[in-house]
Amino acid sequence: MRSIIKEKNLNNKTIILRLDLNVPLDGKKITDTTRIDKILPTLNFLLKEKARIIILSHVGRPKGKIVEELSLEPISKTLQKKLNESVRLINENIYKIKNKEFFNKYYEKILILENIRFYPEEEKNDSNFAKHIADLGDIYVNDAFSCSHRSHASIHQISKFLPSFSGLQLDLEVNALNKITSEITKPITCIIGGSKISTKINIIKNLLPKFDNIIIVGGMANNFIEYFGNNIGKSIKENNSNKIVKEIISLSKKEACNIIYPEDVHVSKNFNGSSELKKLDQILSDEMILDIGPKTINKITNIIDKSKTILWNGPAGYFENPNFATGSIKIAERIIENNKANKIFSVVGGGDTVSLLNNLNIVSKFNFVSTAGGAFLEYLEGKKLPGINALN
Ligand code: 3PG
Repeated sequence: MRSIIKEKNLNNKTIILRLDLNVPLDGKKITDTTRIDKILPTLNFLLKEKARIIILSHVGRPKGKIVEELSLEPISKTLQKKLNESVRLINENIYKIKNKEFFNKYYEKILILENIRFYPEEEKNDSNFAKHIADLGDIYVNDAFSCSHRSHASIHQISKFLPSFSGLQLDLEVNALNKITSEITKPITCIIGGSKISTKINIIKNLLPKFDNIIIVGGMANNFIEYFGNNIGKSIKENNSNKIVKEIISLSKKEACNIIYPEDVHVSKNFNGSSELKKLDQILSDEMILDIGPKTINKITNIIDKSKTILWNGPAGYFENPNFATGSIKIAERIIENNKANKIFSVVGGGDTVSLLNNLNIVSKFNFVSTAGGAFLEYLEGKKLPGINALN
């Protein structure tokens, strides 16, 4: 992997820079800017080298259609403020931009193309689409480690058409995760939560042989709770996942990896509601599971106390509503306690988890915090990520 930081001759070059600006949005308000803050050094470096920067990023999952709420406009404005440098969002359809001379009419050194996932070709890893974007620049830089598990056009295919480099943040994340995975000490516990069930559920099987305990919380736990014969009401879940859950359970026995899922939960009829504690067999059809209960918290904190390494990816509940933040907060507090006493090494990953830690102002209390969720887990799995492979 060649790092852009080592390149000297960037003067007047147009850099196609893939970033992960997939930040949490509440309307047009960014509720956590970590992913923006982390890529500022790369942008400052490129500015210093007098390069022209064309940023590509997605936000959310618009599935190949223009979804106004998923515009990069608020992100572009925030970038401008943070960099103290003019940034222009280009709304034109990418296909109307025929070549890089198109950008000459703008004085800004940083231009952002609108959400790359507004085009279905992006997620199809379409070669013509990737070539079209590549033709708009001289050099490609991937500084989106957290997207590098996706075989998408702006992550993977594009590197075939341009000299391709890693960005500063990607270097940092890969180096840190390499160090962690080579120096890891047992017992290792992995806590997996969050709402991106489809991204994570298939990874668990491959993680089983590597860990002593896998604690499943958040949205994904709902599939396990249902598998064991409980009604999960309106809770989010991944359809048709009984087969994979069954495989996970049976493989966990073979691999002597403890699988832990919630024993009690907090439910509500809606996301903004108050919470009610329920046993697993008491959940009603119009309720959804939004946090873990005290018995589960107790079980998890005991396991944390007995672990030497903790990898945590995905919150335990819908922490955006404080009524459902308790599980995640208790997990965070117990990890921090053990960290302070030098009893564990802790690594946290994922956009939502980082946002939670930021809200609580405790990011610095963990050994390493990665911005990546799915990519982080796939890297731990030992998989070659398509975005990283493409740079090699
Ligand atoms: C993330 O938030 O993990 C990355 O932006 C990737 O998003 P995705 O899961 O929608 O591909």
